[in-house]
Amino acid sequence: MSGIYIHIPFCKKACAYCDFHFSTSLQQKESLVKSILSEIDLRHHYLNDRKIDTIYFGGGTPSLLSEKETFLILEKIYKTYIVSNDAEITLECNPDDLSNEKLKELKRLEINRLSIGLQSFDDDELIWMNRAHTAKESEASVKRAQDRGFENITIDLIYGSKFSNLANWKKTLDKAIGLNVKHISSYNLTIEEKTKLGHDFKIKKEVAIDDEKSAELFLEMIDRLEKNNFIHYEISNFGKEGYFSIHNSNYWKGKHYIGFGPSAHSFDGVSRQWNVSNNSLYIKQVSEKTEAYFEKEILTEKERFNEYVLTSMRTIWGLDLNYLKTNFNSDFVKSFLNQVDTYIKLESVLRKNNIYTLTEKGKLLADKIASELFV
Ligand SMILES: C[S@@+](CC[C@H](N)C(=O)[O-])C[C@H]1O[C@@H](n2cnc3c(N)ncnc32)[C@H](O)[C@@H]1O
Repeated sequence: MSGIYIHIPFCKKACAYCDFHFSTSLQQKESLVKSILSEIDLRHHYLNDRKIDTIYFGGGTPSLLSEKETFLILEKIYKTYIVSNDAEITLECNPDDLSNEKLKELKRLEINRLSIGLQSFDDDELIWMNRAHTAKESEASVKRAQDRGFENITIDLIYGSKFSNLANWKKTLDKAIGLNVKHISSYNLTIEEKTKLGHDFKIKKEVAIDDEKSAELFLEMIDRLEKNNFIHYEISNFGKEGYFSIHNSNYWKGKHYIGFGPSAHSFDGVSRQWNVSNNSLYIKQVSEKTEAYFEKEILTEKERFNEYVLTSMRTIWGLDLNYLKTNFNSDFVKSFLNQVDTYIKLESVLRKNNIYTLTEKGKLLADKIASELFV
């Protein structure tokens, strides 16, 4: 099981909260796609001929690519890698891009999973976020996609801004459920330093909502979505049976993946590498065919252990003690067993046979608990 990620670093507008790598100038779009094609050639040995099960166009806003651009990238991938016939092929799109014409195009390209960035159903909040769509437009875009035959649709939501309260969050969740999508990713808003929100927070024009309120929204979300047959399979992700994101699940399960495009990360089981987060530099350095466009680090046993603890505990599959015992030295395992006991007693962690998962109470403190379990 291996995956391919392609980062498309362009957006129409800068969202107030987002610190992913993107540019709002589309001038370099054509040359950047050419560089991605070159990078695919340059790195064709990276996954050692492993079969590809998932392809994920992320961003930025991949729905800004023309049909030809997306086609060229997919064609290059199919020529370079062995891609399984039933591969999951996801493309992140913004509601305002999803015209009937665009959806026809995505069908022709055989994209079989759409990830639509709705974020909110409150028009005032959408304006505050600097999104390019209204709530009505986003609902209509999901319906249009379903009418065009896309059945595997996931939506992104963000909760915990100053607009969030329990009453309107319940309405948001009901609206999301009513859209009949198969998957929902819902993120607690984080205030990132190098964003408009981060700036406004620094000058005290914005305040963060308190943890207690966030926790209330999080628990409400689990309750409402689970009652509607969504399975909470990762802290921020809910899927109907058979519709978990295969691509993201593979990240959490430590499978190998290759990332193309500026800022994209790759992992081959031993090392992690990440491309430069600058479009001009990426284009220049890829054309020079040197290895200057990425940085690489070989993971130490300690780093691999901590990563496994962090990601596995956040998922429904949990942390497997047998995996720890076969892959890490006994001191690390001992340290884990010592620390985890406290959280089992506090009912934040549940042990069933050799599998450790977070309880609902534990999910509220996922990052803190993971960091206490680190070596
Ligand atoms: C980088 S975006 C790309 C997808 C798409 N272009 C969009 O904007 O909807 C990926 C997702 O990360 C989430 N996200 C980005 N920044 C965030 C933040 N500061 N706090 C919470 N969620 C965030 C959003 O839900 C977003 O849909």
